[in-house]
Amino acid sequence: MTGATARSAFTTEPSSADPHTYQTGFGNRFASEAVPNVLPQGMNAPQRVKYDLYSEQLNGSSFVAPRHQIQHFEACFSAANRNVEFVAAQQAWDPLPLLLEHDESSPGSGSGTDFVESIRTIAGQGDPTLREGIAIHVYSANTSMVKRAFCNNDGDLLILPQRGRLNIQTELGWLMVRPGELVVIQAGLRFRVVLPDGPVRGYIQEIFGAHYDLPDLGPVGSNGMALPRDFESPVASFDIEVDKSTWEIMYKLAGSLHLCQQNHTPFDVVAWHGNLVPYKYAIEKFINLANVEKDQADPTIYCVLTAKSKIPGVSLTDFLVFTPKWITTKDTFRPPYYHRNMSTEIMGLIYGRYNGSSHVLEPGGLSYEASYMPHGETYETWKDATTRELKLERVFEDTIAFMFHISVPMFITKWALRGEGGRSLHPSSPTQWDMAKAHFLDHLDEVNLDLKAAGLPSLGEEEEEVKP
Ligand SMILES: [Fe+2]
Repeated sequence: MTGATARSAFTTEPSSADPHTYQTGFGNRFASEAVPNVLPQGMNAPQRVKYDLYSEQLNGSSFVAPRHQIQHFEACFSAANRNVEFVAAQQAWDPLPLLLEHDESSPGSGSGTDFVESIRTIAGQGDPTLREGIAIHVYSANTSMVKRAFCNNDGDLLILPQRGRLNIQTELGWLMVRPGELVVIQAGLRFRVVLPDGPVRGYIQEIFGAHYDLPDLGPVGSNGMALPRDFESPVASFDIEVDKSTWEIMYKLAGSLHLCQQNHTPFDVVAWHGNLVPYKYAIEKFINLANVEKDQADPTIYCVLTAKSKIPGVSLTDFLVFTPKWITTKDTFRPPYYHRNMSTEIMGLIYGRYNGSSHVLEPGGLSYEASYMPHGETYETWKDATTRELKLERVFEDTIAFMFHISVPMFITKWALRGEGGRSLHPSSPTQWDMAKAHFLDHLDEVNLDLKAAGLPSLGEEEEEVKP
């Protein structure tokens, strides 16, 4: 295939930040050919495929042996697992340290840490063998995966780079993902991660039994939140290797890694079609909706992607984003209102400034609020928010913060709680709430006047005992 290709509404153009081309849309069935006319037409398994290619559906592989060296994933979140525990109090973590630049060409520089080796589990619920539940991980890596691919059989991964781009080679093609973008790689798909900018850091949300979906829009209609056409999927791309040296394929099954060796590249798919396709999305494209007259919208209005739980009508997790927007409401308490809710809230910051006042959150850090535990802003923030003059206001300028809004209680790993390799917690002091004042009793005279006017006894006044 030579010559210029016409610009298409259905594919994107390469740029300096991202050299790849994508097909756009969400939940579509795509078809992609790296060599024209290779996909069998009207069937999937003809007797003989063009060029004697093999026709394959996405599935597993044999020759799997256990690999015990790396055990940093947690996948069984129950009281029987001593590596995890329930925590009631709010938690906040500093960013995972960035690893030093790793020089792959220098023999003395060690082996470095690649994307998969660097993943550490923070929290989770459920179990992938039950196809139910969720896990939150972080990664901090400094070397590309060379002759090594990863395949997560436990669930779909939503990856959020926070520092450095990830150039991800999948069986279905390449995706370049930068901080500010998310990428979803489904279970069962082999991929490897190349680091074009050196050391990287970021967040991962893994779901065990469902796929990510766009939230239903209801009365919102078609012009808000994440637009389907802003999701980008790769085009077919394959490698030809003359060199027959060994490739390692790492499979994650129920949290343990299993190693398979083969003497050919796994990235040999010439053409494909279907809808089990990885995709990326630039979070800056999210179209914010909010109340414009009074009161606050529920934060689920900031939902980019959702995943269903096994309870009808209840999501397992909603991925919410906080990006620049106007606040226009009058006579409204504008900071997040004080609340207790069923969901566990795990927040992170990709870049910019976190505006919450009850704990510190740096870019790359994390915070946790347990299910049904009370939380809200500090007394100082309450005082300011209840007395300030309300004007048009920009919030989250030059910022992307996010929340994993998870409907189930989460176990936290002991690794996340006890620290190792610089993982540091900075719990907020509960004494910050000692400052909060109960103002109601300062207004006792006014309250009693109102009660008297309504024919009710004053506060503190004994009601006359009725004698029989
Ligand atoms: Fe909350």
